[in-house]
Amino acid sequence: MIIWRTNQSPSDGLYSEMLESIQSNHKNKEQFYTTFYDENNLNIFNSLLPFYGEIISNMMTDLGLQHISRYQYTVWMQMNNSSTNSHNPHSHFVGAESISWVHFVNVPNQKCFYFQDSNNNKTYPDQNTGDFIAWPSWAIHGVDKVKQSNFDRIICAGNISFTEYNFNNQRVISDLNEEKTICRWHIYK
Ligand SMILES: [Fe+2]
Repeated sequence: MIIWRTNQSPSDGLYSEMLESIQSNHKNKEQFYTTFYDENNLNIFNSLLPFYGEIISNMMTDLGLQHISRYQYTVWMQMNNSSTNSHNPHSHFVGAESISWVHFVNVPNQKCFYFQDSNNNKTYPDQNTGDFIAWPSWAIHGVDKVKQSNFDRIICAGNISFTEYNFNNQRVISDLNEEKTICRWHIYK
């Protein structure tokens, strides 16, 4: 299921910014925390985007996609702990997303993240602190509740959506709109 992986930790400065942002924005203590792209979070996004932009560019180069495509990527940050709920099985594919990823920024020894097959079997990939993994966006995955008390499990995740794919004189362009509600593909020869 995993198409690329690396291990990289954020700088101490970026990690402190993440912690600060979670502490000041996590209101409902029974619910896992997710960043939303709004005015409360602009600073943290400005810090996260260059860090993940570089990792994504390295990944797209290794996958042979960097020189033949244009793409958009999203980033969000999540925190769950033994007092919060966790993330039920879901996928990130709503029509335009091709590659999804998660970065295990600070995780317990317990493997919480899993992929789920059509028979509800769960597979837990290696997921140590610092690991970054990417998979096809249609893959169903979820997160188990953290068992260890007093441990904030922090991850960042996101999607990559192609806006253009150009190889062997065949050009595919999507007019993905800003809200990502419409994605129409055009094929040129
Ligand atoms: Fe997810």
